[in-house]
Amino acid sequence: MIRINENYLKLKASYLFADIAKRVTAYTAANPDKPVIRLGIGDVTEPLTSASIDAFHAGVAEMAARSTFKGYGPEQGYAFLRDAIAANDYTARGCEITADEIFVSDGSKCDCGNIQEIFATKGLKLAIPDPVYPVYVDTNVMAGRTGDNLDGRYAGITYLDCTSANGYVPAIPSVATDLIYLCFPNNPTGAVATREQLVAWVAYAKANKAIILFDSAYEAYIRDPAIPHSIYEIPGAREVAIEFRSFSKTAGFTGTRCAYTVVPKALMAYDSAGAAHSVHALWNRRHTTKFNGVSYPVQKAAAAIYTEAGKAQVKAMTDFYLGNAALIRAAVTKLGLSCVGGDNAPYIWVNTGTDSWAFFDKLLNEAQVVCTPGAGFGKCGEGHIRVSAFNSRANVETALARIADALK
Ligand code: MLT
Repeated sequence: MIRINENYLKLKASYLFADIAKRVTAYTAANPDKPVIRLGIGDVTEPLTSASIDAFHAGVAEMAARSTFKGYGPEQGYAFLRDAIAANDYTARGCEITADEIFVSDGSKCDCGNIQEIFATKGLKLAIPDPVYPVYVDTNVMAGRTGDNLDGRYAGITYLDCTSANGYVPAIPSVATDLIYLCFPNNPTGAVATREQLVAWVAYAKANKAIILFDSAYEAYIRDPAIPHSIYEIPGAREVAIEFRSFSKTAGFTGTRCAYTVVPKALMAYDSAGAAHSVHALWNRRHTTKFNGVSYPVQKAAAAIYTEAGKAQVKAMTDFYLGNAALIRAAVTKLGLSCVGGDNAPYIWVNTGTDSWAFFDKLLNEAQVVCTPGAGFGKCGEGHIRVSAFNSRANVETALARIADALK
């Protein structure tokens, strides 16, 4: 008799954004005359930049000619893209990261979800923020690293509370942990970590022979020059951190799919006898076994964001979304609600002080605006909603006017 992985039974029935999509689909089916504006899932709306599109087209044209056609590429990504990433995202910021430490992939969601496979399932101590991008928790539940969900939290996880009291940046835990998930600029709160805060996390990881999984998918939104864009700006991070980056929110690639993960060669993890092993070698083994690389034209389109024109266009695109975020922050504040995020991140985390699914339903039913209920990101998310700045200016303005009407 075929048996299932019973860890899946511990999960909530569906993934957060699938849950929301179901509610929105039901609402639109029942109210076809009421157009809904989506400020829920962080999905971009602006087209790819002309630099990326031109490179994309050129890549497709190469695939159409026998002399330039390409079959399988290197699983880790083409050298032209890895070199551009290393030079622009790391060397230029003073980080000691080389091209062969970069693994190009089809998305950070996959990488954040898959990385746990190379670490122990039994006895590994997890530290995960709350609220949090649900992928970090759910993939560990699937792998059997947690107990049951009791009262909204899985047994076996050290939750790192992010609340208004700590500015939504978690404190270092008082207990030792092995695998620590951090995301800055944060999804869902939009909070950013200072250099001093990241220095403390690196020191904690070193002291515990732990690894930090640092998700910086939203770094392109940082405008405060004092805020680090990469964990590798912190001395010693090469020995304790893996970093995830994505072209999705940086350059509008949510539908195009391209991201990368940095695994430094200095990073070690240990077997049950205490012997050190290269995490880079393990991830390379996993990646080459389970992945055949991102398509050539997509990698060409991604590399184009590092040209002079590409850099300017991507900056303009992220500035545009940050302009939306500023409008959202101002409107929310005018309604008397407090919020964080939106200044170095495309998300605004609004403290409504009320049941977050009820607030979600109110905005959907009375304003036809979709947000994300904070409770979907964890227990500490209750009493909050997340508003995404990813939409057209006209839609954001209409949504804010409708919200103001609904809440008056
Ligand atoms: C979000 O809305 O949290 C993100 O779009 C989800 C993702 O990047 O997978």
